[in-house]
Amino acid sequence: MLVIAHRGASGLAPENTLAAMSKAIELGACAIELDVHCVEGELVVIHDRWLQKHTDGHGLVHQSTLEQLAKLDAGQGQRVPTLWQVLEQVAGRCDLNIELKGRNTSDALIPLLSRAESELGYQPQQFLISSFNHRTLAKVKQQRPDLRIGALIACCPLHYAQFAEELGAFSIHLDVNFAEPELIADAKSRGLNVYVYTVDEPEDLLEMQRLEVDGVFSNWPDRARETLGVT
Ligand code: G3P
Ligand code: CA
Repeated sequence: MLVIAHRGASGLAPENTLAAMSKAIELGACAIELDVHCVEGELVVIHDRWLQKHTDGHGLVHQSTLEQLAKLDAGQGQRVPTLWQVLEQVAGRCDLNIELKGRNTSDALIPLLSRAESELGYQPQQFLISSFNHRTLAKVKQQRPDLRIGALIACCPLHYAQFAEELGAFSIHLDVNFAEPELIADAKSRGLNVYVYTVDEPEDLLEMQRLEVDGVFSNWPDRARETLGVT
């Protein structure tokens, strides 16, 4: 079972920062999840659409400039990195699950990943592109059919299999609160990988292992791996 460092090793460093990415790698994570928004045509790594949630700034992320963002403190003196800075720092050492948030993300993503493949040596299969916005995912898949797509699901929809198939999804990503055994078994029987977020409690981790999900997102990837007995 794969343990994915959620927003980097966000239990141990400010989430979605270069420090959180470094920490995840230091802890031996083989996959990192991060959130991106589009600012002035460039992808920046931050979870919330409001700056005040995770930085000392105010206002909407997509209404900021890159220059303004670069000056903000994202915790412990960390900056809000661009996705390119994360790609450079990780340098292909682990897989990346890039969650697309907000507007215009797919258009900014495609050239950036091509550049990461040609200049930084990433392989396409190292990327897993996810979003709650399945229209955005469809755009990504249309432009890059070779990329793995993860359909984020916030609840327990009746027709999930239909949209997963339409998207050509590699995986569905379920909220731990809705990760019901029947849904997991059904998805797996359809050949979909099942990843569950955000799983930090030992009881939940062991339950997900018992249900044979393919991966969990954890803020404490080292503790999660220890609980699960996986390397
Ligand atoms: O990608 C899994 C999880 O991160 C989705 O929810 O709100 O933490 O981005 P959220
Ligand atoms: Ca996320």
